[in-house]
Amino acid sequence: MWDKLYKKSNCYWGLTPSEKLVQYLSLIPKGKILDIGAGEGRNALFLAKHGFEVLCLDVSKVAAEKCKKLAKKLNVSVEYEVRDIREFSSKLCKFSGIICNGVLPFMKKSQSKKVIEKIKEWLVPKGLIFIVVFTTEDPLYKTYLEEGLKETENDTFLDPKIGDYFCFFQKGELRKSFSNYNIIHYAEKYFLDKYHGKPHYHGMARIVAKKQNKSDSRLLTAGMTTYSVIPVQTGI
Ligand SMILES: C[S@@+](CC[C@H](N)C(=O)[O-])C[C@H]1O[C@@H](n2cnc3c(N)ncnc32)[C@H](O)[C@@H]1O
Repeated sequence: MWDKLYKKSNCYWGLTPSEKLVQYLSLIPKGKILDIGAGEGRNALFLAKHGFEVLCLDVSKVAAEKCKKLAKKLNVSVEYEVRDIREFSSKLCKFSGIICNGVLPFMKKSQSKKVIEKIKEWLVPKGLIFIVVFTTEDPLYKTYLEEGLKETENDTFLDPKIGDYFCFFQKGELRKSFSNYNIIHYAEKYFLDKYHGKPHYHGMARIVAKKQNKSDSRLLTAGMTTYSVIPVQTGI
């Protein structure tokens, strides 16, 4: 499914990095960054341009090739592995930042929870995570329910048209998964996505958070939670 999509256009998600990643760039400690489901690399290339060593993972070979070409053009380097995050292990390497933008929706909920546990394990103390998921406010979730599609497990549907799983997070669920982190930013939004394909709505949750030192038990920032219908001006 992903290779087909990436063959369709020059740069499907565009080249603009995620707004909140740009905003919180300076909070990422020096070191290596893992971009899970990096796609054509809009975030990875931005991070590489800012001096980070970046490892991209994605199931799409086409996306990997496009990202490597773009890296050459921009005169930056990124490492890219065509791998499924569910089968990836990183015993030897820890990361100072882990990006996972819009990837967890495309698997079973139980698998996305396992990936979250891996992310926590792979992150260094004071490392930064940036994660975006779909929520049960997403129109697709409602469509599945209206069509009478049965959940294969909690908040997970096997889409018969695509032949793949979609999962959705409940309100506050992503934030709760990182309750022992310092939450820098947390938002849940229903928004008009005009950045790829036909304009369409999404329900999404986004978190930017820092892993605490073991000795640091304080939660520094509460972060703001929004839940509103707004056409945002920038993509996720
Ligand atoms: C919505 S796109 C987001 C791309 C990129 N993160 C961005 O923000 O531009 C989701 C990406 O996740 C990748 N992906 C989906 N399932 C994956 C998996 N199990 N392991 C690794 N990558 C996956 C897809 O190939 C696709 O590139």
